[in-house]
Amino acid sequence: MAGITILGCGMYIPSDLATNEDFAKFVDTSDEWITTRTGIKTRHMANGILTYQMGTEAAKQALREADVAAGEIDLVIGTTVTGDFLTPSMSCMVAGELGMTEVPCMDLNAACAGFVYALDVAQKYLASGDAKRILIVSSEMVTRMVDYTDRSTCVLFGDGAGAMVVAKGEGGFATYISGDPSGAEKIFTKLSMSDSPFRTKTPQWKNPLMQDYPLGLMYMDGNDVYKFAVSAMPRAVEIAAKRLGVTVNQLDLIVPHQANVRIVQTAMKKLGLPMERCYCNIDEYGNTSSACIPVCLNELRQAGRLKPGMKICLVGFGAGLVYGAAAFEIC
Ligand code: ACO
Repeated sequence: MAGITILGCGMYIPSDLATNEDFAKFVDTSDEWITTRTGIKTRHMANGILTYQMGTEAAKQALREADVAAGEIDLVIGTTVTGDFLTPSMSCMVAGELGMTEVPCMDLNAACAGFVYALDVAQKYLASGDAKRILIVSSEMVTRMVDYTDRSTCVLFGDGAGAMVVAKGEGGFATYISGDPSGAEKIFTKLSMSDSPFRTKTPQWKNPLMQDYPLGLMYMDGNDVYKFAVSAMPRAVEIAAKRLGVTVNQLDLIVPHQANVRIVQTAMKKLGLPMERCYCNIDEYGNTSSACIPVCLNELRQAGRLKPGMKICLVGFGAGLVYGAAAFEIC
C-alpha cells in the first residue's frame, strides 16, 4: 500500500481539569480505586467551548505546523460521536471556521476507533490521487453524554481534540479495520425524536435496556467492553503488522486508544511487547474517544519522538463494537 506522510499535527485540550478527588465529592469513589483500576488521575472538561470549536483549534495548529494553507486541503474528514449537531457535520463546521469554501467534508462515526478508520479512508484517497492533502479532525466532548450519577463510567472520560494533515508518502502503510456489531448494545447513546402527529406507535428498540435507557446519556457495559478490547487490540495490531510485512516485535511504538491502562497492559502482554514500547497519556486526559490517538501523536511529534524510518502502529476500539489498527513507517 502507498504510504502517508504526516505534514502537521495539532491538539486542543480544555484548561479546566477534574481530579479523581473532585469525583469523590459527588459519587462513591476514590482516587485509589480510579488510579489502580483505570490509570486515570485527571481529565480535562470542555467548559464554554463546543466540539467543533475544539476541533478548529486543533486543525489550525496542524495546518500551521504543516505550513499548508486551508485552501490547499482537498478533503476534510471529521471523527466524532459527540458533535454539536446531527447536521451539519463537525467537519463542515471546522472547514467553515477555517475559511474553506470549496472542499468535500465528511464525518465518520467509528467511536473511539474513529481516527484509525479516518486514516484508512484518507490513505485510499491519497493513493488514488483524488486528494493530495487531507485534514483529519477528531474532536470529542464526551462529557456531554456522561451520566454523572454512574460511578463506573463518569470517571473515565474527558474532552479534547486532535488533528493531522496528511499527504502521500513513500514508506509502507497497512491497516486492518473491523467490527463486531453483535456487541452494539454494549455501548450506546440514544437520540431524541421530534413529537410527530404522524408517529402514533412507540418504536421498539433492540433490547429492553435500550427501550428504557434515558435519551442522551451513554450506557456502557464496562466488563464486556473490557473483554472485547483485550482481544481485539492485539488481533488488530498483529494483522496490521503482518500486512505491513513486519513482525509485531519490529514495531517501534504502539499508540493505543486510551480507555484503561489495564487494557493497554494486557494487550501489550499478549503481543509480547514491553510497556515501554507504547505511548500512554491516560493519566492526564482519560478517555477522549476518537481524539485520544491524534492527541498522543501530537505529543509524540512535539517531543521529537516520531523519527523517520520508525514503524508505528495505532490501535483503537470502541462503540459498535468496532476496532482497527494502522501500521506505517514514519517518513
Ligand atoms: N469507584 C469505586 N468503585 C467502582 C467504581 C468507581 N468509580 N466503578 C465501579 N466500581 C465498583 C463496582 O460497582 C464493583 O463493585 P461491586 O463489586 O460491589 O459490585 C467493583 O467496583 C468492580 O467493578 P468492575 O466493573 O468489575 O470493575 P473493573 O475493574 O472492571 O473496572 C471499568 C470497570 C473501569 C469500567 C472497566 O471495566 C473498563 O475500563 N472497561 C472498558 C471501558 C472502555 O474501554 N470503554 C471504551 C469505549 S467507550 C466509547 O467508545 C465512547
